[in-house]
Amino acid sequence: MNSEVRVALGDRSYDIHLEKRLDGVGEFARGRSSASLALIVTDEHVQQHASEVCASLANADFRVEQVTLPSGEEQKCLATAERLYDRLVDLRADRRTLVVAVGGGVIGDLAGFVAATYNRGLAFLQVPTTLLAMVDSSVGGKVGINHRRGKNLIGAFHQPVGVWIASNVLKTLPEREYRSGLAEVVKYGMILAPQLFDWLEQQVAAVLAREPEPLRWMIARCCRLKADIVEQDERELTGRRAVLNYGHTFAHAFEAVAGYGQWLHGEAVAAGMDCAARLARRLNLIEDNLVERQRRLLQAYSLPTRPDSWNISELLRVMRLDKKAESGRLRFILPYRVGEVRLVEQISEEDVRAVLLEVGCVDA
Ligand SMILES: NC(=O)c1ccc[n+]([C@@H]2O[C@H](COP(=O)([O-])OP(=O)(O)OC[C@H]3O[C@@H](n4cnc5c(N)ncnc54)[C@H](O)[C@@H]3O)[C@@H](O)[C@H]2O)c1
Ligand SMILES: [Zn+2]
Repeated sequence: MNSEVRVALGDRSYDIHLEKRLDGVGEFARGRSSASLALIVTDEHVQQHASEVCASLANADFRVEQVTLPSGEEQKCLATAERLYDRLVDLRADRRTLVVAVGGGVIGDLAGFVAATYNRGLAFLQVPTTLLAMVDSSVGGKVGINHRRGKNLIGAFHQPVGVWIASNVLKTLPEREYRSGLAEVVKYGMILAPQLFDWLEQQVAAVLAREPEPLRWMIARCCRLKADIVEQDERELTGRRAVLNYGHTFAHAFEAVAGYGQWLHGEAVAAGMDCAARLARRLNLIEDNLVERQRRLLQAYSLPTRPDSWNISELLRVMRLDKKAESGRLRFILPYRVGEVRLVEQISEEDVRAVLLEVGCVDA
């Protein structure tokens, strides 16, 4: 089964193609680019997949060059971007050169940023290899690198010319990374799609076994949901895109306080969604059973639903700095029912503090 998700953005429209294998990617790229040169950006853990992409692009008459970076968030920096610019200069890249990201969100964000900025914009193709990149970071055109004082501070909107998702590549993804990606899938169910949520409850075994058909259905569903939001709010201007931040105000604080890299992003999002649901419960927006239903699902996928015993004042300090906080009051995306969330403004720190105490953080 193949499926295609169209992201309709006028002259920046593109297709997300889903199937089992990588080897059609060359033809797919050729259909979208007349370039002679393709630069693959990848990391050390996905070499094997990058080689397949390389062969397929070569078959489609691209001259292929490759940069293989160490893995890790630290690569999303200006120094590495500069290394890629240098390589493009050496290769005499021109306006038509195609940049191809083969990797997770780190590689996609970095290569996309370089594509967005080199020579005022090169065509960019995404070949995501983590579940998170497939369902989230490769859809929507946000690209960027980190500044030492803040994540994703330097960036752009740069839509790819296409996204090729081969579910096969997930076979090599470490279990913890895979489960972490599932947190974002649960998030889509909670914010937009009751049916997806039900499905995730029923298909735990198949999803954990990474069965190809259910996997492709699930990924396609998430891409469609994110594409719908992006189509309505491509550049984050109307607030529509904010629902995607469900669980993320808490998650960003957990990641920052834990020290980046200790908790994977999806793990922090899982615990963050539990806190957001508890907060909604505390504000009488929902009943206990919704908090529990979400928690049960997260636990079924072995995701954490409790933060560590972090310091509450420190967490609140990070939340105040989060761009979603305005003038001392906190704003959160909170659940109303499965498939519906809303932005709730003017939440008092006392309520947030109470929730954090409830889940075991400490008020030292
Ligand atoms: N642009 C967006 O809209 C957006 C959205 C969400 C997240 N992000 C960004 O995405 C990044 C996180 O992405 P990620 O979770 O994919 O992390 P990642 O890119 O660091 O990949 C996680 C790990 O898995 C390895 N890996 C990737 N694919 C593999 C495979 N198939 N087999 C074996 N190993 C594999 C990588 O080498 C790495 O060690 C963050 O920088 C975040 O800011 C961006
Ligand atoms: Zn996220």
